[in-house]
Amino acid sequence: MPLISHPVRRPLSGRVTVPGDKSISHRAVILASLAEGISTISGWLNAEDTQATLAACVALGARVEWRQQNGNQLLTIIGTGGELITPDKALDLGNSGTGVRLLLGAVAGQKIKVTFTGDSSLRQRPMGRIVEPLQQMGAGFVYQGHAVADHAVRLPLQSLGPVDSSRLKAIDYRLPVASAQVQAAILLAGLRADGTVRIHQPGPCRDHSERILRLFNAQVTRQDANNLIIRPSILKGCNVDVPGDFSSAAFLLQAALLVPGASVQLAGVGVNPSRTGLLEVISSMGGKVGIKSLPVPDLAEPVAELNCRHHELKGIDVPEYLVSNCIDEFPMIMAIAATCKGNTRIRGAAELRVKESDRIAVMATALQQLGVTVKEFPDGVDITGGSISGGDVDAHGDHRIAMSLAVLGLVAARPVCIHNAQAIATSYPGFTDDLNSLGAQLQWSA
Ligand code: S3P
Repeated sequence: MPLISHPVRRPLSGRVTVPGDKSISHRAVILASLAEGISTISGWLNAEDTQATLAACVALGARVEWRQQNGNQLLTIIGTGGELITPDKALDLGNSGTGVRLLLGAVAGQKIKVTFTGDSSLRQRPMGRIVEPLQQMGAGFVYQGHAVADHAVRLPLQSLGPVDSSRLKAIDYRLPVASAQVQAAILLAGLRADGTVRIHQPGPCRDHSERILRLFNAQVTRQDANNLIIRPSILKGCNVDVPGDFSSAAFLLQAALLVPGASVQLAGVGVNPSRTGLLEVISSMGGKVGIKSLPVPDLAEPVAELNCRHHELKGIDVPEYLVSNCIDEFPMIMAIAATCKGNTRIRGAAELRVKESDRIAVMATALQQLGVTVKEFPDGVDITGGSISGGDVDAHGDHRIAMSLAVLGLVAARPVCIHNAQAIATSYPGFTDDLNSLGAQLQWSA
């Protein structure tokens, strides 16, 4: 069932409240499940990826209730007090890399056997980057019937917990890539280690884990931009307000930037500075986004209303220091670059090849099919902006590629028909409705 995006005939306008942040929603349910007592989570992202994490947490012993508060659904989790139970079958995390990688960290310190699996995309993604530090801490893993010996491992993967002692060992670990998922897995394992765990990153990455760990009473301390420590801690249930997902808002921002005359307001968007590198990219391209900060409680993530309008944009060299800060926004940055005057150069982004799809190859092919000149490199692309022809493209089951291409269709000469786009439901189930409410014409074809 392809998604068809028709060229728009009038400017987009309106206001949208974007769905909850996916990274924070995963973390909130995992920490609430490990905590003592009750946690309530408002603004939780109810999408396929986070539903998979929630179901896994229930299988590990958490209890879940939905309550109504002022007309909104409030997710309530009764925690396990840190003692997870053995699930009766393999935990299937579907398409969710964040879900499986964080849960591998959460169960590493527990003396239970847990098998993790996922869909065909997740089963191809590297898990060695998570297994390596957890093995150094003394956690055991089984892959293809054998104890894990090297790190070329994928799913399905079984976690055994600490193998030679009752607790995990504290380690001092240097991350090979600035990955928030790896950092989060080590922090979660560190909750049950026998001492202080130290993490050194090669560069900054999103800091949601440490913020939310503090909210749940964990002893986590940031020493400087690239170094942080965690001490063994008992988590206490609490209330979490999940802000709107900046990475979902980004597609509506892309639409407003591209469509002449557009004016769109995005309400309640999380603007954690470790996530908003896209705004710097857009500003260098000549775009402007109005940001009105909103008041939030102590320890809560920063939130703002974004005011987005059309701008004529120009191609740029995307600075490498911004790559990890806007890692999920590259499909849309490439789509924007395809419409800009001049060339855009992206390098230092090899991580894009191991996301939900190989985002460099899949976007390069799709843009070429839409008549754009793209040259692929191992760690990036060169894109020469021009006009977008329209026609058939394939999102290869990658939600962010599907949404970037759907927005690009709004300014194409002919409709863009996106195959394998259903994965949009993994992060933003209301995407087509929200974009159509602004005046777009997206339609699932039979
Ligand atoms: C995420 C971290 C990023 C990002 C992913 C979500 C997270 O992955 O691409 O969508 O919630 O920690 P890496 O940590 O692998 O860069």
